[in-house]
Amino acid sequence: MKRITKAVFPVAGMGSRFLPATKASPKEMMAVVDKPLIQYAVEEAVAAGITDMVFITGRNKRAIEDHFDTAYEVEAELAAHGKYELLRAVHDVIPKHVNCIYIRQHGALGLGHAVLCAQPVVQNEPFAVILADDLIDAEPPVIKQMVDVFATHQCSVLGVQEVPREQTGQYGIVSTTNLAPSLEQVHGLVEKPRPEDAPSTLAVVGRYILTPRIFHHLAQVQAGDGGEIRLTDGIATLLQEEKLLAYRFSGTRYDCGSKLGYLKAQVAFGLMHADLREEFAAYLATLQ
Ligand code: G1P
Repeated sequence: MKRITKAVFPVAGMGSRFLPATKASPKEMMAVVDKPLIQYAVEEAVAAGITDMVFITGRNKRAIEDHFDTAYEVEAELAAHGKYELLRAVHDVIPKHVNCIYIRQHGALGLGHAVLCAQPVVQNEPFAVILADDLIDAEPPVIKQMVDVFATHQCSVLGVQEVPREQTGQYGIVSTTNLAPSLEQVHGLVEKPRPEDAPSTLAVVGRYILTPRIFHHLAQVQAGDGGEIRLTDGIATLLQEEKLLAYRFSGTRYDCGSKLGYLKAQVAFGLMHADLREEFAAYLATLQ
């Protein structure tokens, strides 16, 4: 029985949809209320028992490494002023037993290439991939739900949800047959089909459990438009030799790769925040 102990976070993307906000700082460091997107993603992995966090970074991404490191000056300052609650928030960004590993992706060569960059660390183990853009409010957290599916089935698992047909062009779309409540057997997978060509409206979101055999397939993928190696293409050929499941997670997903999704996340997480909830709800009620 294999266990999932490693999670890969592809964070080298430029974040062009949020320019100029992302001109000099990583999109993954954009905050929803008071935590950056990448911290939500890492907390999700920690909650699933994952201990090795593998970040695939690039230029202008140093803030992510600093975020998960000790901030001596900030901590000293907070301690000196007796601000112990904030000190804890800064100090406990990541539990002590968790390792952070950083690998540089030397160019914008696509999501598949980013995952392939993790091979020297992941080696011959199954692993999770988490896209921090997809912020998902779920209990238990989605990657934990999927680790549990993996524990039973010992094969690759894609996190999926239904999307409106007019949006299929934004996602990897699977064709499946139903196996059990929430669980589908995948027969085919296409990247961003036009609505009229989409085999279904079941979309892959930014959560994957993959077997290490994916590296073999990613290494064979031909670069597509813009020289990018697509993760979906690697998974599509993996499917020809291994079983692949799609898991309809329970939870609410916010597409923080888009401005509207990001704004919705701010509102939803603001309304869940213990210190803000009441006043924020009262403020929103005045906006009708
Ligand atoms: C990527 C994947 C796509 C997936 C999506 C989920 O696309 O290529 O298959 O459905 O993430 O968010 P991107 O959003 O990076 O264009």
